[in-house]
Amino acid sequence: MDTIQVFLGMAAMVSSYMLWFSHLSRRLSTGPNLWPLVGSLPYLFKNRHRIHDWIAGNLRKTGGTSTYQTCTLALPFLAYKQGFFTVTCHPKNIEHILRTRFDNYPKGPQWQAAFHDLLGQGIFNSDGETWLLQRKTAALEFTTRTLRQAMNRWVNRTIRTRLWKILETAGEEKKPVDLQDLLLRLTFDNICGLTFGKDPMTLAPGLPDNPFASAFDSATESTLQRLLYPEFLWRVKKVFQLGTEAKLQKSLEVVENYMSSALDARKENPSNDLLSRLMNKRDQNGNAFTDDVLKRIGLNFVLAGRDTSSVALSWFFWLVMNHPEIENKIMDEVLTVLKQTRGDDPITWVRDPLEFDEADKLVYLKAALTETLRLYPSVPEDFKYVINDDVLPDGTMVPAGSTITNSIYSAGRMKTIWGEDCLEFRPERWLNEPGAHSGSKYRFEQPKDGYKFVAFNAGPRTCLGKDLAYLQMKAVASAILLCDRLMLVPGHQVEQKMSLTLFMKHGLKVYVEPRELKGVAGGVITNA
Ligand code: HEM
Ligand SMILES: *[C@@H]1O[C@H](CO)[C@@H](O)[C@H](O)[C@H]1NC(C)=O
Repeated sequence: MDTIQVFLGMAAMVSSYMLWFSHLSRRLSTGPNLWPLVGSLPYLFKNRHRIHDWIAGNLRKTGGTSTYQTCTLALPFLAYKQGFFTVTCHPKNIEHILRTRFDNYPKGPQWQAAFHDLLGQGIFNSDGETWLLQRKTAALEFTTRTLRQAMNRWVNRTIRTRLWKILETAGEEKKPVDLQDLLLRLTFDNICGLTFGKDPMTLAPGLPDNPFASAFDSATESTLQRLLYPEFLWRVKKVFQLGTEAKLQKSLEVVENYMSSALDARKENPSNDLLSRLMNKRDQNGNAFTDDVLKRIGLNFVLAGRDTSSVALSWFFWLVMNHPEIENKIMDEVLTVLKQTRGDDPITWVRDPLEFDEADKLVYLKAALTETLRLYPSVPEDFKYVINDDVLPDGTMVPAGSTITNSIYSAGRMKTIWGEDCLEFRPERWLNEPGAHSGSKYRFEQPKDGYKFVAFNAGPRTCLGKDLAYLQMKAVASAILLCDRLMLVPGHQVEQKMSLTLFMKHGLKVYVEPRELKGVAGGVITNA
């Protein structure tokens, strides 16, 4: 090959790149400035510690009007289609993606490939018929009272026998605890109990290491790593068992063994858990689920139901610590309800966690939890794959094969959606009688537009565990607030972790102090 040929080849490459780039830039009038060759990468890199706020900022800028809140990021080193990211938080677009054109926006092949080793074809990781079948079966289970009762039994047990004791000891010893870690352990134990009837007891005095929990964490982490790089990279690493891929392999073995023994135990001794109930089901051909499918289903539920609730509770406690006036309103409501159901003696209020009917009456608490999820949604960005070229309701074009992200985090922080005080923590925005706060006087109001608040997703793929999650969060929130006052350890930095779940990067370190509950004083319940 002579020099001229090389030169012509390079010129052709450069000019086709320039053409592609100017084509992109013209389409992308709404995003951050694009740099030649590296697209939005410099901005992504500069903002890597605050990705969600950076995205929200971009969407706010491009979406001053309510019809244009979409910005597009491009990563030119990837193939044209894969490098195309559209991010939106416009409720009309979100409805279009999650409901109207649901079939055009599945999880997609890259996502499924990355999660396949951990989740198989489970509900969380499948599309089309495979997903629909599981969705139908599982949705039936989730409407039963049995599952709700089972959840309450597990929550009841973990709070009474472990959470309260651990916090009491921490209070006596005046040692700080990482509340996020305690909550992660608690929800992990509960979801395992609910799903396959075995409580791994990761929440226990001394906070022991648990091989199953660690392996599950590590498998999730390594799986997420796969999504950060082009697919062929992790494929190569997997073949040669390098780095995170070797680690993933080891973790998967531990998880696999644990699930097998849990499944064997349930076969001998079925109970109220999800696996026992699914073991009796038949698919459309009259066949029972195979062991492997049952194990995958179990793991999908553990993944879906675990971190989400504990992360939400961590942000809830942090917000409440910073808003004493809201803490007082929550306490007023909880105490009013408990007095109605259990009488005037404070001992009875902290003897057992909430019963169903009590949880149902805690409307202000529900509003405070929902308000937490608006500002700190456990799943901050939700990715979808685009099957066919499409135009979103606000006019944005999305090319086939690209990725579209519903920025749930940004949707909670738009003035155009929530008003001038969109960044304030104000549970009253969910209640129809702001001002009055005496327990059952409130009524909780869902927003008229169901696609404004999408922390639990919406449309056909809406979170199945929403009611169970509220039940668990209410029980834990009231159990802790009734017994303890929490104080942030001075100097502790609460920061977001850049991950698919909105963890606190350094946990939530708090001091615990027992709370004195006073009985009835002149007909009014006060909390000291
Ligand atoms: C505060 C707590 C929770 C939040 C914020 C939450 C949020 C979500 C979100 C955003 C999705 C959609 C994910 C996606 O498709 O990419 C989802 C799906 C799902 N969630 Fe939850 N979730 C919570 C608790 C739970 C619990 C406790 C369970 C189980 C007991 C659960 C079970 C599921 C299942 C099975 C799906 C998959 C539904 C499907 O793909 O058809 N979730 N959740
Ligand atoms: C919690 O457990 C205690 C002791 O077993 C029981 O008395 C109480 O009724 C339970 N509460 C719920 C909601 O299951």
